[in-house]
Amino acid sequence: MSKLWGGRFTKETNKLVEEFTASISFDQKLAKEDIAGSLAHVQMLGECGIIPSEDANRIKNGLLEIKQMVENNEVKFLVEDEDIHMNIEKLLIEKVGPVGGKLHTGRSRNDQVATDMHLYLRTKTTELIKLIEDVQQALVEQAKEHVQTLIPGYTHLQRAQPVSFAHHLMAYFWMFERDKERLIDSLKRVNWLPLGSGALAGTTFPINRGLVAELLGFETIYPNSMDAVSDRDFILEFLSIGSIIMTHISRLSEELVIWSSQEFQFVELDDSFCTGSSIMPQKKNPDVPELLRGKTGRTYGNLIGLLTVLKGLPLAYNKDLQEDKEGMFDTVETLEGSLKLLAPMIETMTVNKDVMRKAINNDFSNATDIADYLVRKGLPFREAHEIIGKIVLYAIQNQKFLLDLSFNEYQAFSLLFEEDIYKVLSPENVVAVRNSFGGTSPEQVEQQIKLAEEKLGK
Ligand code: ARG
Repeated sequence: MSKLWGGRFTKETNKLVEEFTASISFDQKLAKEDIAGSLAHVQMLGECGIIPSEDANRIKNGLLEIKQMVENNEVKFLVEDEDIHMNIEKLLIEKVGPVGGKLHTGRSRNDQVATDMHLYLRTKTTELIKLIEDVQQALVEQAKEHVQTLIPGYTHLQRAQPVSFAHHLMAYFWMFERDKERLIDSLKRVNWLPLGSGALAGTTFPINRGLVAELLGFETIYPNSMDAVSDRDFILEFLSIGSIIMTHISRLSEELVIWSSQEFQFVELDDSFCTGSSIMPQKKNPDVPELLRGKTGRTYGNLIGLLTVLKGLPLAYNKDLQEDKEGMFDTVETLEGSLKLLAPMIETMTVNKDVMRKAINNDFSNATDIADYLVRKGLPFREAHEIIGKIVLYAIQNQKFLLDLSFNEYQAFSLLFEEDIYKVLSPENVVAVRNSFGGTSPEQVEQQIKLAEEKLGK
């Protein structure tokens, strides 16, 4: 059989053109969605009396057979048939005969492909939400073990104030929580039905779009056929949410790379999540977090790629739109792979509490607390800040930390100091007194974990 659109042509398509314009090498991923859309469409055609119901039934059975073949990997997709839509239609006609040609009544590949993409993203978005929850669960599990574990908190990658390690981990929980919300919200727009828009202007047949929407589980029907066939906002939205998710994964990965370095040694990634060097026998490399960080780049590329494709496109369908697919598949697969690795990597990492603790003992991250101490004794914060700055400088010059200074040394800087200063300066105390809502005190962190577990439905 020649091209489905061959009627007005007098020459064969140039082979290079055929290859260049075909999308079957990648859009075969939409086979399931394409068949689901066709099944709903043909049922509607039958019920509306647009085609005889016997014909609708034969087409339906043919489609179900093809669906089975696709599931069994028995279909050989052909470049000559360009894309998934025409590959399946041709197969259908081969199976059920010329009646198969009635399937495309009142439909175009333009509303068909848009529908496939909506269906695909709906499934993938729902699956990704679940994968994000697995990562959140892993974070909560580690956090529960480490409410009392202290780690230096940083700003500018300089020691700032000690925090609970659980608090640090839970910061990522909330990033992923917002990502999940974004994905859930995007489903509202993924759930708009394009089918029934025809090539761009609607159709002359008395179709029932409401029925198709119901059969396919769409909540809204595009009210404008031209918008329906050329809208790719829902993909842009997915790509941008995907980029934000990868940004979060990348930041966490960067911390894991830093923390597992010899210089930090705050955590050790499980052997099963690291790789070695072909030349340096001592190496245990954090390839997984590095690659997660690295893969973030391609998801940004996919977003910028599609934004660039869309800008300047006149209405309605243009072949440029076929470029919406590979980036979308790539971001979906990148997210799936990344989230699947992240959860067990977090679960299995070893946390070196003692190293973290030693780090805190050897820094000035309790300096703010002496300032607050003097403020409580009535000194304006600015003056306190100045005095503590001088104390820190003095301590550095004398190779001491704040807990090493004698009471006399403190009194030399201010007579407001009393013996209780040492209690105030202990790292446990420094963390425990940050008990404001959302702060790092164990009490607040416990509350936070409780809230997180409620979010996970635990
Ligand atoms: N393979 C095409 C795509 O992905 C399907 C739509 C083709 N429509 C057309 N009028 N050529 O965009």
